[in-house]
Amino acid sequence: MARLVRKEDKIPFEIKTREESIWVCMCGLSNNQPYCDGSHKIVADEDNRTYTYDKELKRTEVRDWEISG
Ligand code: FES
Repeated sequence: MARLVRKEDKIPFEIKTREESIWVCMCGLSNNQPYCDGSHKIVADEDNRTYTYDKELKRTEVRDWEISG
């Protein structure tokens, strides 16, 4: 089974506690979910097109996005 999740955020979300800041991944690419691991840097130059990323963070443009059902 596979699942596609569309994410548009390019930076993490900061949660401030009394002692520290916790950075939550909002780009969907972190290998340490739900925490940011810095992988979002690769999406900084994304434009308005849609992309997928593999486990090595290799980017592929999605040209024919089709949702059925
Ligand atoms: S926001 Fe996803 S890795 Fe940083």
